[in-house]
Amino acid sequence: KIYPVILSGGSGTRLWPLSRAVLPKQLLPLVSERTMLQDTVLRLHEQPQMQAPLVVCGNEHRFLVAEQMREIGVAPLGILLEPVGRNTAPAVACAAHYLKAIDPEAVMLVLPADHVIEDVTAFYAAIRQAAVPVEQGALATFGIVPTGPETGYGYIRSGEALAAASCYRVDRFVEKPDRTTAQSFVDAGNYYWNSGMFLFRAESYLSELQTFAPAIVTATATAVGNDYRDLDFCRLDEASFMACPSDSIDYAVMEHTKHAIVVPADIGWSDVGSWSSLWEVQQKDGQGNVTRGDVYLDDVSGSLVRAESRIVAMIGIRDLVVVETNDAVLVAHKDQVQRVKNIVDHLKTKQ
Ligand code: GDD
Ligand code: MG
Repeated sequence: KIYPVILSGGSGTRLWPLSRAVLPKQLLPLVSERTMLQDTVLRLHEQPQMQAPLVVCGNEHRFLVAEQMREIGVAPLGILLEPVGRNTAPAVACAAHYLKAIDPEAVMLVLPADHVIEDVTAFYAAIRQAAVPVEQGALATFGIVPTGPETGYGYIRSGEALAAASCYRVDRFVEKPDRTTAQSFVDAGNYYWNSGMFLFRAESYLSELQTFAPAIVTATATAVGNDYRDLDFCRLDEASFMACPSDSIDYAVMEHTKHAIVVPADIGWSDVGSWSSLWEVQQKDGQGNVTRGDVYLDDVSGSLVRAESRIVAMIGIRDLVVVETNDAVLVAHKDQVQRVKNIVDHLKTKQ
């Protein structure tokens, strides 16, 4: 049995002004008519072995998440509510404690709620490749062939091939290297990007976390408690979760564990982190534009234009991102959209 664990806690600041703290990107219909959370849940929903999903999100998003599950007719196994964000290592640890209590053999498939995967069949095949080593205690990640020296990703050097088809030991895992290091990894050729999706037994994850970040194991065990089973929402205990150290699964476990394996996965994966990556994954018109809403374009190419509440008209424009909402407008060059997160930082200091 495989339990999908959906991480839905990020705020997606690089997709401002559409993605906001109250309505982050994974809860928005950015790529398709459904929200990214809904697409993530439905992607593997009917596959054999897949159990109902466990969603981990911020307490403030509980009604939106529950409503979005109802809309697609999926009854989640549970919705774990975090009183504050403590990054992914604690979120996954809470899910692991929760699942272990239900099924001591539980295998969890950790899925960020904000990725695009075009080839679901290939993804499911990659998951099946990892099944045997994972049963034996491995922590599996899915490796993506890098297309450039992105500094926002983890890099994985694959080592020895395992008996299971297309599985390799992870020789080295480097989370978010600087540009020069990232370029040297891309040049070396035997590195993959970490897709941020993981497959492991709940027990294997907790035991590695116990070795490298024991404080997270203790705090999350108390936070989950043991009286949640019949409830729609599992509210994590505030005091214990607040006391939990904040860290990502990549820094806390994946960089250190000796049991990591990588399954190269050619699955049309994309982390829709920025407006340019959203432009890349979407269907374009003849001029290479991606548009949504009431938009008038004359001699415009290579642009992403979204009109939420007013008409947006553009003439003689190349490679721009224009996002109009009722209280903010973003105009940026498509090559510079990584800096959008600075706007959010700036707005925070003004408040
Ligand atoms: N529930 C919960 N709580 N979810 C969270 C939290 C949290 O505190 N923090 C982040 N998440 C969710 C995000 O919404 C996202 O879906 C996922 O966990 C990963 O977090 P990110 O913050 O987006 O991580 P990242 O993009 O910087 O890096 C990770 O993903 C890359 C690929 O997209 C790492 O795993 C990298 O190694 C990887 O390459
Ligand atoms: Mg991300």
